[in-house]
Amino acid sequence: MRDSFHRQITYLRLSLTDKCNLKCGYCWTSFQHDCPAGSAENGRLGEFTSFGYAERLMSVRAAAKVGISKVRLTGGEPLCYSGLVDFIADVKRVPGIEGVFLTTNGTMLADKAADLKGAGLDGINISLDTLNRDKYKRLTGFDMFDKAMGGIQAALSSGFGKVKVNVVLIGGFNDDEIGDFVNLTRDEPLDVRFIELMPMTGSPLFGKEAYLSGRVVLERCPDLKSVGMDDPSSVARLYALGGAKGRVGLIEPVFSSFCDKCNRLRITYDGYVKPCLHSSDEYSLVGKSEVEMERTIRNAIDAKPREHGDLRCLRTDIDGVTTGGRSMRRIGG
Ligand code: 5AD
Repeated sequence: MRDSFHRQITYLRLSLTDKCNLKCGYCWTSFQHDCPAGSAENGRLGEFTSFGYAERLMSVRAAAKVGISKVRLTGGEPLCYSGLVDFIADVKRVPGIEGVFLTTNGTMLADKAADLKGAGLDGINISLDTLNRDKYKRLTGFDMFDKAMGGIQAALSSGFGKVKVNVVLIGGFNDDEIGDFVNLTRDEPLDVRFIELMPMTGSPLFGKEAYLSGRVVLERCPDLKSVGMDDPSSVARLYALGGAKGRVGLIEPVFSSFCDKCNRLRITYDGYVKPCLHSSDEYSLVGKSEVEMERTIRNAIDAKPREHGDLRCLRTDIDGVTTGGRSMRRIGG
């Protein structure tokens, strides 16, 4: 289905859980702010316990009827969701769904990669913001760098073809590692994608200097040559080093918005459709039949804004400019 700006909406990012085994600074710290003590998670506690496996699968069926063909499972950490393998297999069987993908921190992937492949998963993105063990611990709160690297290797050896590594660019934290990340693409079929840090609800850990433009990658690595995009709706501009097996992607939501070709919709772990990551607009699917869900999803697509606000006004206090009203962990990355 097309939204009111003629954009064809085909891509659903579906969050399975808000639970995560890591506590990354740009994500976790905000939890205290969007869930003040005594608020019972914004008063929705009763509702989200009722959005479980069956309802979530129903929401995918409803979304497929509206024209969704690609689903990415997110979280929280989707490997914290115990039904993940079955859920992938079930989503793969939904008529109209052509591809099912996963975004994970990779730390629990080593044991699961083969099962995920067996269930029909089409591709994996792994979030890794540093190649330094101590910094990994500092950012995530856990000494799990080796596990994350193990997860990347497991994904590569389980037949996923090209594996994508997502690096959130954080000035003063990992910009000194840009070259090291780019070098990872030389010998492995890895796409390393640098994502501009977005000032989400919360993320008070970072000051203005943390918000770098993706262009900095090209300044630091002048040998990167543009190789276009995977498809016209893709958000990553791709580059490559001569002779490298993988590529380098720049995802620039802050300094170069891609709203005009937005094809996505999000469903939060607790059953709310979000037409835009950076808006607090939400449409509840809780307690609805499949037909009602389909209607709600259509309404949400109709309500997609032309673009999100200017994210360059970088305030880092808790009222941050770009708020989806929730932290990333509770929206779905
Ligand atoms: N800015 C940019 N990227 C973010 N992610 C999570 N929070 C932010 C943020 N504030 C990334 C995760 C993951 C992807 C789904 O989104 O690291 O790679």
